[in-house]
Amino acid sequence: MATTFRWGIIGAGWIASCFVKDLLVDPKTRGVQDVSHKVTAIGSRSVERAQEFIDKFVNGDKEVAAYGSYQGVFDDKNVDAIYIGTPHTYHYDAALAAIKSGKHVLCEKPVTSNAAELRSLIAAAKEHKVFFMEAMWTRFQPLALEVKKIAEEGSLGKPVMLHADLSGDFDIENIPKSHRILDPQLGGGALLDLGPYPLVWAIIALYENPANNKGFPTTITGSMLKTPLTGVDSSTVFTLSFTPSETSSLSALAILSCNITLDAPEPGVTIRFERGTIIINPPIYSPRSFKVVYLNKGVAGKKEGATAHGELARTFEYVGKGWHFQADEVARCVRDGKLESELWGHDKSLLEMDIFDEVRKQGGYVFPPGVGKVTA
Ligand SMILES: NC(=O)c1ccc[n+]([C@@H]2O[C@H](COP(=O)([O-])OP(=O)(O)OC[C@H]3O[C@@H](n4cnc5c(N)ncnc54)[C@H](OP(=O)(O)O)[C@@H]3O)[C@@H](O)[C@H]2O)c1
Repeated sequence: MATTFRWGIIGAGWIASCFVKDLLVDPKTRGVQDVSHKVTAIGSRSVERAQEFIDKFVNGDKEVAAYGSYQGVFDDKNVDAIYIGTPHTYHYDAALAAIKSGKHVLCEKPVTSNAAELRSLIAAAKEHKVFFMEAMWTRFQPLALEVKKIAEEGSLGKPVMLHADLSGDFDIENIPKSHRILDPQLGGGALLDLGPYPLVWAIIALYENPANNKGFPTTITGSMLKTPLTGVDSSTVFTLSFTPSETSSLSALAILSCNITLDAPEPGVTIRFERGTIIINPPIYSPRSFKVVYLNKGVAGKKEGATAHGELARTFEYVGKGWHFQADEVARCVRDGKLESELWGHDKSLLEMDIFDEVRKQGGYVFPPGVGKVTA
């Protein structure tokens, strides 16, 4: 029997609609038999918007409660977990209130605006014994699971160099300065919005590599170009170096970038190993194809499906856009009494937020007073 997991959604905006559409996809279409999902409540700052959201995205289901406040959802007994889809700088308050109400939490990326907020939330989640996870959906997609398997099965050797970029044209000259991508009060800019995606690949391929033994990057560098419109970063480059130590034998670099004015074609992700390269095609937040180029053709020739030139290509098909895999993870973790995911645990979100704090510091991006609810 599948466990039916009941979701309450906070913030009736764009990303919440994407998540809910995927939640309503029959899990059997992706081979999932043990968990299923139900949306039971929507919370908005306006009850009319909550009801409109239900009518549009939850098939007008009369059993779904519409609330004109987020607290209504936190207090609803028919909700197992809260999905937080508000702008970055509202994640902390919503997540803390949900945790204090005893609800499990899946919170959009970036999980908070800084690392201090995240440390406070993790402590609260532990105190209240609830599951807490950043919605790093890419980590749970079948392509990421397969890349990780190939990266670590041995024939490629250790990773040495990783390049990843995510950019998009947000038409910043023509959107209101209050848009969340431009407004510093909402943590606007490229790093917090797009940066999690190049970074997730560095975490998967380098931080998670067994040779690294969960070592923190030895060096982090960051450089930002700011838009004169509001002062948020329009273009950011950051690098991570992993150097050998008593506990790690990894020697690798990640060169990561993001931008809010550049459109396709995006370069995707390239992970270069001692004996080959993995090339992941964009979009890097939910890629559907990648190839492995083995430098040692003798090894490639023995790989099932590899060409004589040492190339192995993989594509992935599923119904939905890829947000549902993280929902399956939450449902399973909660069913099994876990407080964090093994695939995207608290340590990885903390690593992300510590890196972003450092890159903002080096890039000279200071939030306006009051944006970070916890600062030390
Ligand atoms: N995983 C992904 O692929 C992905 C993609 C895009 C965005 N995101 C993340 O999801 C979050 C929301 O992004 P979005 O594009 O959905 O944003 P959005 O549409 O601008 O806002 C989402 C909702 O947040 C609520 N909200 C609460 N306080 C707000 C305020 N002061 N200003 C504006 N909205 C406020 C609003 O809902 P109510 O009016 O109903 O309360 C709004 O509809 C961000 O953290 C972003 O990084 C993730």
